[in-house]
Amino acid sequence: MKKNRKSRIKITGTGYYAPDKILNNFDLEKMVDTSDEWIITRTGIKERRIASEDQATSDLAIEAGRTTLKNAGLGVKDIDLIIVATSSPDTIFPSTACWVQKGLGAGHVPAFDISVGCTGFLYGMILAEGLILTGASKRILLIGGELLTKLTDYTDRNTCVLFGDAAGAVVLEEADDESGMLSYYWKADGKLGDLLYLPAGGTRIPATAQSVAQRLHYLQMKGNDVFKHAVKRMGEAALEALKAARLKKEDIDYFIPHQANIRIIEATGKRLKVPREKVYSNIHKYGNVSVASIPISLHELQEEGKLKKGNIILMDAFGAGFTWAAVAYRW
Ligand code: UT7
Repeated sequence: MKKNRKSRIKITGTGYYAPDKILNNFDLEKMVDTSDEWIITRTGIKERRIASEDQATSDLAIEAGRTTLKNAGLGVKDIDLIIVATSSPDTIFPSTACWVQKGLGAGHVPAFDISVGCTGFLYGMILAEGLILTGASKRILLIGGELLTKLTDYTDRNTCVLFGDAAGAVVLEEADDESGMLSYYWKADGKLGDLLYLPAGGTRIPATAQSVAQRLHYLQMKGNDVFKHAVKRMGEAALEALKAARLKKEDIDYFIPHQANIRIIEATGKRLKVPREKVYSNIHKYGNVSVASIPISLHELQEEGKLKKGNIILMDAFGAGFTWAAVAYRW
């Protein structure tokens, strides 16, 4: 937990990229035993974006990074670090961030990935704060990019209705005014690792004909258990981040939760007593885009002209690991 303090980092640019191709619930009805009604009622999702065959995660991340720099009025020469949060890297190594650095033509700036499931964007902000406030970096491009549909089993109705592809990004630098990151809270519990994981392709179960035949290269999830932990942990993270920033629930102008399931979003919003219109949600059009969901939400809120200077934003996420985190932020 980090206390409210004077020097802080702020977001000076936002942007995102989502592939054009749409997969809606009616398309899924033709693939597995499901229905538009079930998916909407249980998840809030109507459609999601799907990357094309030839796209990898870095391609989405590069587009998001480029747009974000443009929105910030910056060029690639103006950043001195690239962090990519992803659980669906292009390759096991090099990191997706290195592919992104190449794609952006970002010279020799350091670049690395963080892999903490859907919490990756918030972990990235926390990391960026440390790097910027110690003087190690001046201006960071933080991208959350995910292409989970290539790791999803389209014969498994428990998972295939949920995920979509997208990337969102922000530019982070030291704040020169009262705005910026006020506090954070981050946690992990590795004992819950097998609730949501991708079993094969790493060193535990390297790729073999058998691992492929057993469909172990697709993500697996115990949805119901994930759901319960998510509601509990997102509530905990949100309250702890508020406490660390010496804020009250009533101070929240916008609550931006990770977009995993509309029922998780609404349950957490209720626990925080945030009125529904202040709980941001775009899950109906993107599905669960993991690390990309919070930066896309931030960008959309800003584009819609809803974010006013001084607004208090609470960002909150959970993900595979299990990991969970929240960040309180003054716009
Ligand atoms: O970013 C983190 C990633 N993960 C999550 O956030 C996932 C969190 N979990 C969830 O969102 C929900 O648990 C799900 C949406 C995955 C499932 O919803 P649920 O209300 O927890 O359903 P359930 O797993 O308890 O299943 C209820 C029923 C089962 O049928 P029976 O056994 O009652 O006959 C399932 O087989 O719904 C069935 N079911 C489906 N039916 C139609 C499961 N998936 C589907 C489906 N279409 N796609």
